[in-house]
Amino acid sequence: MDRRQFVLSGLALLAPRTSFAASATIEIFPNEPIGTISPDIYGHFTEHLGGCIYDGVWVGENSKIPNIGGIRKELIDNLKRIKAPVIRWPGGCFADSYNWRDGVGPRDRRPKRTNFWANTPYLEKAPNGPQKYEPNEFGTNEFAHFCKLAGAQPYFAANLRSLKALDFYEWIEYCNSPAGTTTLADLRGQGGARDPFPVRFWGVGNESWGCGGNFTGGEYAVEFRRFAEWVPRYNVDLAFIASGPNSADYAWTHDFFHKLVEKGENTLERVYGCALHYYCGTTGKGNAVDFTVDDWYELLAKANRMEELVRNHWQIMGEVDKERRVKLVVDEWGAWHKTDPSIDPSYLFAYFPTLRDALVSGITLDIFNRNADKIAMANAAQLINNIHTSFLAVGEKFTVTPIFHVFDMYAAHQGGTSVRTIVSAPRLGQSSADGLWGLGGSCSLHGKRAVLTIVNPDTSNAQETQIAASGTRISNVRATVLTSNDIHAHNTFEQPNALKPSQQAVAASGSPLVYSFAPASVTRLEFDLA
Ligand code: AHR
Repeated sequence: MDRRQFVLSGLALLAPRTSFAASATIEIFPNEPIGTISPDIYGHFTEHLGGCIYDGVWVGENSKIPNIGGIRKELIDNLKRIKAPVIRWPGGCFADSYNWRDGVGPRDRRPKRTNFWANTPYLEKAPNGPQKYEPNEFGTNEFAHFCKLAGAQPYFAANLRSLKALDFYEWIEYCNSPAGTTTLADLRGQGGARDPFPVRFWGVGNESWGCGGNFTGGEYAVEFRRFAEWVPRYNVDLAFIASGPNSADYAWTHDFFHKLVEKGENTLERVYGCALHYYCGTTGKGNAVDFTVDDWYELLAKANRMEELVRNHWQIMGEVDKERRVKLVVDEWGAWHKTDPSIDPSYLFAYFPTLRDALVSGITLDIFNRNADKIAMANAAQLINNIHTSFLAVGEKFTVTPIFHVFDMYAAHQGGTSVRTIVSAPRLGQSSADGLWGLGGSCSLHGKRAVLTIVNPDTSNAQETQIAASGTRISNVRATVLTSNDIHAHNTFEQPNALKPSQQAVAASGSPLVYSFAPASVTRLEFDLA
């Protein structure tokens, strides 16, 4: 069936069938748990970069844009909807040039500093503004307030390259020491936050292999040990995240872990997570909206590489961490396309994500679900007006992107038990789809209710699939589908609903269930298991 026929036939494809020679199969094993899907896998990342903080998150208390204490209200409302569990801040590369003291105390007395990204050629062309010269209007109290409003936990990335360990301890003291106990708690209170925030997650530097200090894995292990050796705790179960590898830099992971335990294996207890960063892109023009079918497959195949990265780094970590105390934290991931010239030039790295980027999100989140035993947290880079963004906002204009819709659909997995699921489908024929499967996904259980998410990367063919749950029956099926007959479909400020999911009742039950996954789609099936 070609794409047009699929669209025309609509609901007919949802018709129940009990025996059918479908070309694809999905077998769910409810009794084979992989692990609990940490809600934190559905986290986000915000950096003082382009239009992410200024105009994205922070519009200021005197803005006519609806806001709560200066924070864009529409963003807060939508973050609550997708149950955003954790937000990372203030970078990224910005973090290792940031002095947290600049962003506390009376807002009108905070200093202006040169932003880490100011010398980027694209931004250099833009007029001077908060994207180039950091006004520090948005600092620790504002970020903590933002997280509280959104219902998310804060995750701070501390400066390891250009500040001392003492500054790190004092930032923790500022955030977490009880009211009335320390001078920094008093300062926090003067900024309107009498009680501690408190902050559990602390990144010890960012990309310490590059902008965060240009260390080797072994050199960074020494720095990490020093920073994490003593910290004030205030009864907070602090979780330190070590700067991890860039993509497939396996030497970094090897060198970091081996050096770390030179002073004893108990050093591993100081590490909550090892941060992996992986961005995918295409070798062609690199445009977000203007791309070919080959570019489509190339990007999706590259997104799918996340699985081998997770498995390989995990294996190397296991050479040292036999008891598996340390988990992976993928605190930057996404598709990195060129900045869209039609967006305000100050908004470095912003572009309009399309259906293709929605599939990148589905592929990646399914990988995280399938590896729920290995991954404690992940943060899509970045939340708003940036790379792989869930939202775009310029002044009063605002839109959610197709990536947001995938987070909305996949929120149903949060806290569920990921179970082994075998998906088989014919391989794609395109050479650019190198290594990419014909159908992929993940399944989680929530009592008797199951959530199955599936990506069909094929741009023109629906995938008729038999779905069975081992030893049980499927009933009460509901489908949510994100697709379009234009693979370039995306939302704009003028058409914010151009691409959004549709809900479909599925009148089928039994085992196997036959369901046809639309071409170029992300689908969520929810059903009961007997
Ligand atoms: O997300 C943009 C940048 O990508 C971050 O600042 C950095 O950590 C990474 O290289």
